[in-house]
Order: sequence, then C-alpha cells, then structure tokens
Amino acid sequence: MTATLPPNAYPEERRLVTVMFADVQGFTALAEQLDFETVSDLLKEIWFKLDQVIEAHGGYIDKHMGDGVLAIWGAPSAGDNDAENAVTAGLALNVAMDEFARESRLPGAGELKMRVGIHSGQAFAGYIGMHNEYTIIGDTVNVASRLEQYTEAGSVIISESTFLLTRGKFIVFRPEPVQLKGKHEPVMTYLIEGSQAISGRGNYRGSESMETHMVGRNMEMEQLAGLFSQSRGNPLPTMAIVTGQPGIGKSRLSMEFSTSLENLDHSIFIMTARALGQARQVPFYLWKMLWHNRLNLRDDDPPRNSNEKFLSEIQKLWGKSLGIGSAIETAHVIGHLIGMDWSDSPYLAAIKTPQARVERAFALTREILRRIAAVHTLVILIDDLQWVDKNSLELLESLFTPGEPSLPVFILAGSRPEFLQQQPRWSELAEVINLAPLPANAELVATAYPILSKYPKSILQTLARQAEGNPYFLEEMVKSLIKTCDDGTIPLAEAAIHRLRAQPPESLQAALQARLDTLPREIRSIALLAALVGRVFWVGAVIAAIRMATKFGTSAPTRFSYANTERIVREALIQLEQAELVFPKAGYNFSQEQEYIFKSSLLRDVAYNLILMRYRPFYHKAVADWLANRTDADFNFMAAEHYELANWPVQAARQYELAAEHAKLRGATDESERLLSLAVALREKAKSQKTFPIGSQ
Ligand SMILES: Nc1ncnc2c1ncn2[C@@H]1O[C@H](COP(=O)(O)OP(=O)(O)OP(=O)(O)O)[C@@H](O)[C@H]1O
Ligand SMILES: [Mg+2]
Repeated sequence: MTATLPPNAYPEERRLVTVMFADVQGFTALAEQLDFETVSDLLKEIWFKLDQVIEAHGGYIDKHMGDGVLAIWGAPSAGDNDAENAVTAGLALNVAMDEFARESRLPGAGELKMRVGIHSGQAFAGYIGMHNEYTIIGDTVNVASRLEQYTEAGSVIISESTFLLTRGKFIVFRPEPVQLKGKHEPVMTYLIEGSQAISGRGNYRGSESMETHMVGRNMEMEQLAGLFSQSRGNPLPTMAIVTGQPGIGKSRLSMEFSTSLENLDHSIFIMTARALGQARQVPFYLWKMLWHNRLNLRDDDPPRNSNEKFLSEIQKLWGKSLGIGSAIETAHVIGHLIGMDWSDSPYLAAIKTPQARVERAFALTREILRRIAAVHTLVILIDDLQWVDKNSLELLESLFTPGEPSLPVFILAGSRPEFLQQQPRWSELAEVINLAPLPANAELVATAYPILSKYPKSILQTLARQAEGNPYFLEEMVKSLIKTCDDGTIPLAEAAIHRLRAQPPESLQAALQARLDTLPREIRSIALLAALVGRVFWVGAVIAAIRMATKFGTSAPTRFSYANTERIVREALIQLEQAELVFPKAGYNFSQEQEYIFKSSLLRDVAYNLILMRYRPFYHKAVADWLANRTDADFNFMAAEHYELANWPVQAARQYELAAEHAKLRGATDESERLLSLAVALREKAKSQKTFPIGSQ
C-alpha cells in the first residue's frame, strides 16, 4: 500500500536520508508461468514477512512496486543510526527471504532471492499527488535504485556515502567503482558480507576513530604465511599459537593475518571464535561460537529457526563426496553437542550413551571439516585460548589424531602465556610464536599512527619509551594525547607529554584506569557495573545491577529511577562505544538481551577492580538473578558463578546442578561431575553459614 498521511503530519524538508531499494529476484520468470492470482498470493505473503523486517529496523515503507519496495531511514523522522539500521535491515531481508524460500509451499518460491541497494544523501521529503502521499524525491533515490539493479541476487550493495556513515560496523568486501546507468561518473560501491564474522573481535562491531597500521610484526606475519602454505599439503592440522603478554598484539596480528589471507584467496573459509573467561565452564562453548559465528546463528533466534538454519547450512557444506555419516546426522549430533535442542532426533536416540554421542560428534566434526577443507581453504581462528573450556580443547586436540582421510586445516590461536605453562603439550602440537615488545623508536610510532605526523619527533620518542613496547599501552597514550591537543598544537602536546613524564603510568592498568577516570561520573559507574557482569555483558544484566544499587543506596548515581534506567543505560552505552571502550554485538537491536563486549579483558578487569568490595555481592546477586532467568542453558553456568560471588551458596548450588544436567546431556560427563561436586560443597557451606547472605530481605 502506498503510504498516505494527512497533510502536514510531517513538515516538508530537505533531509539526509538513507534509501533502500529491495527487489525479489526470480520473480518475473515465475510470474510468466503462474496465474496472477497465485502470483499475488505469493507477493502478499512475501511482503507481509519482509515489511515486518523493515519496520523492526526502524525503516519507513514508502511504497511497494510489485516485487520491489522502497524504504527510507531518516524520514519522516531520524533515528540514532539510520544508515546502520538500513544496512542491518538489508542483511535481515536476505535472511528472511531465504527462510521464506525454504518454508513456502507455493510453487516456485524456493528459487526466490533478494537484491538490496542502499544509498545515503540529501532528498526532498514531503507530499505529492492529489492524495498527499508522503515520499522522498531526489537523485539519492535514483542512485539507490540503480545500485539495486546492478547487484547480484542474494546480496546487499551500498554506496560510498552509506559506507562512510557506517564505517567499521560491517564487513565489506569487493570495493569497486561501478558505472551506473544514467550517471556520468563511476560510483564506489561495497558489498556487505553479513554471514561471515572475520574480525578479531568476533562479530562484534567496532568503530575505528583513527587509522592505525600494524608495525614491527613483519617477521611474525611471514612466519604465519609460511606455516599456512605448509598446512595445505599437510594431512593433519597445522597450528600456530601466538603468545605474549596482555596488549602485546596477539589479536591484532591474527586479525591482520586473516585479512591478508582473504585478500589473497576469496574462497577461503574462515571459522572464528574467542574463548571467554565467563564461559570457561560451559562445555563446548568455543565450538558453539565457531559454528554460531560462521553460520550467523544468534542466541535470540527462536530454537526452531536456528535448528533449521543450522541443518540447511550443514547440508550445503556437506557436498557430495563419500565418507561417514550424513548431513542430517551431523547437524543433529554436532548441534546437540553445542547445546541445540534436537531431542526428537532419531540419530541421537540411536546412540545409547552420552559418551558415545560425544565420540560420534567428534568423528562428525572431523568429517564436516574435512569436507569443507576438500572444497575451500579452511582456517580456524581462535582468540584467548587461555580461557577455552576443557571439552572444546579436547575436541580441538582430537583433530590432530592421525588417520585417513586427511584434514588439512590451518589453526591460528592467540593466547596469554599461562596457557602453554599449564598445557605444555600444546607446544608440541603447535608452532609457538612468541610476541616480544616492540622496539621503542619514534619512526614506528609515526608509522603506526599517521595522525601523529604533525607532532615533533621528540614527542614520538617519549611516547615510544613510555609505552614500554606494549602497543595497547601506546594506543591508550596516543588517545589521551590527541584528546588534549587534537589540533596538534605543539605547546599543548608538550605539556601533555610533560604530564605523562611527571606521573609515569606504571603500567597498562594505570593507563586504562586513567581513561576510565575521564568518563563522566554516571557513565563511569555504568561501565563499572557492566564490568561486574563480565567481559561480555547484557543490557538487562546491567540494568538489574543498577536497580539493585539504587535500592540499597550504594554508590549509584541518584538520577536513576526505576523507569528511566533503561534510557540512561542506553545513552551511556552509546558514549562508551564512542569512546571505544565497549562494542555491541552486531545484528541485535537495543534490548535487554543486547550483548556487548569490553574492548579488552584487561579493561574489564581494571573497571571491575574499582568497585568497592562491600558492594560487589549485592550487584553479583542482581546479575545472577537476571542470568538465572534466561532460557539458554549456558546462562546457568554464569549465574552459578555470580551467586557464588554474591555469597548465596544455595542458589549457586542450584545453578551448578542445572548446569551439571546440561553438561551431562551434552556428554561432558567429567564436567558434569565436577559441577555437581561444586554444588555439594556449596550446600555444605550453606549449612555452616549462620548469617543471612547479603542482599536478602
Ligand atoms: N603491531 C602493532 N602495531 C600497531 N598497533 C598494534 C600492534 N599490535 C597491537 N596493536 C594495537 O594494540 C591494541 C592491543 O592489541 P591486541 O588487542 O591485539 O592485544 P592482545 O595481545 O590480544 O591482548 P589480550 O591478551 O588482552 O587479548 C589493539 O588496539 C591493537 O590494534
Ligand atoms: Mg587479544
């Protein structure tokens, strides 16, 4: 339906808008074969589904044109992240269309795909026609339409201006100048790749406020390249473990290396995940995330949808070669291992013991990876290996068991030194690359930070020395320097450097603490409570902690009332994101479930340690209650730890028992027993505890 509004519902204006044209591909051919009544049924169903996606992402549906739609962000009213929301909606439209194509019983629907073009620019927004239809007019609209016509089925293409508005938020590939119909000059375009999480941050978005180059790691890059090319002829996995102190550049090296691989070979198949301190008790968490990130499964998808998606993706990857098992069995058995509900699976029912299920899952993981590796160059990237859960590590190790057929995969893992100290046998399985501090020289600093080119060499020299070869430390100092004198005013810079000299931050911790101290008080207190939740935190958990803080009259700012907390948290998170301290997980809209991550675990620890001990138990209790109410079983593991920290042993025991059940179900028998023994110990503790736990009423 055409959007019709009463005159003057909105003012007529020149507005910055982001325009999306989306079109159902394969439709014209279909329409030729079918009666128009059938065709209209199909279109009605499609738009019923897709319109909801557009509106859920804040888009305004201007008009439908048969198999196409024109949607606008930024008019009639502007939102916080219009361009970003439009691109996210574009990706979501593709997902919804694929889902529709899979599920629809209507003839021919299975072949349908979406094509999306997005462009941002100025346009007239107002009314036209006898019936005062609200619409937008301008060249911006034409460009979006041409882009859409240019791109391939199943893809989202954006223009340079949309790219600039969303920089750092999406994974783009194939930047390409394109000659569009009716345009004199070629325009730059970018394809958005939504389903592949390749950045070192997993699929968390990151904003990049300044351009930086990786420096001083040529040797390590070459070493990795050597191992990688060796891996391709190797019957067994080839693994490199990059190790070194916090902030030394492990994650960055891994990210740069994977980017270089992608530039080399577009068909490369990368699976990536990071282990998480908070989730080290969750059996097979790392493998869950490897699959989730690769196949774009989301925690808040309804289970039925993620099961279907998982199955169909595994079927696509399975291919035609001979081997053990089948695609369906693999989806069921691996899915079960990583916590999906396949309780009605005949394959699982046929395997009698949990132990046998795990063994089968190991064999089938190997099989599916082998099949992927037969078609693509397969690379597995793991970050923060020091926090890997025990079961995932066993599965990883099982890939190294010699046997036919071969499994040529390259595994790159980053880890802090403690991992190899505790698990020395991994130094035999993998090639260890130890990252040393960077040399303290001014040229290196200048190359790493082009933004510093206008500063005198003496200042760069001081920075280099102060950073003690730790690039994270250097980055924090550069940020604080630029903040004090962003126009490069030399006297100011000298003064800032002088201050740095006067109070040399003894360590990276001190620098991070100093940075937290620059935040407005209220934002800072929210950051601290977020840190209490963990390196990864959820909006709802932070809100729960704040409400507890308000209730007990602890250090929380007074501006919070029950009703406005959510809004304040939202504003605070936007600011923390702009300060590049936290990053939201891509693809979620702001909600209680929205997930964020601290830029580094060190930053999280520093923030957590600022919280007074006497308040911590209250907050942990609130967070634990929130976690315990989630449906996803993985939250039980985390809730248990928070109850423990809150000194609520009975609740902690209960959560450990639930967690133990889940672990057992997934076949992590040892883990399950360990969790149960924790529960027993906690119940004992509860008996001997005379006083009421804090936070009880
Ligand atoms: N060689 C380098 N040149 C320029 N910047 C770098 C370099 N290495 C790392 N950085 C920057 O320093 C910061 C810290 O690096 P990174 O996150 O890779 O450290 P890490 O070793 O993974 O730390 P952690 O153990 O806490 O995970 C990042 O912002 C990164 O971009
Ligand atoms: Mg890291």
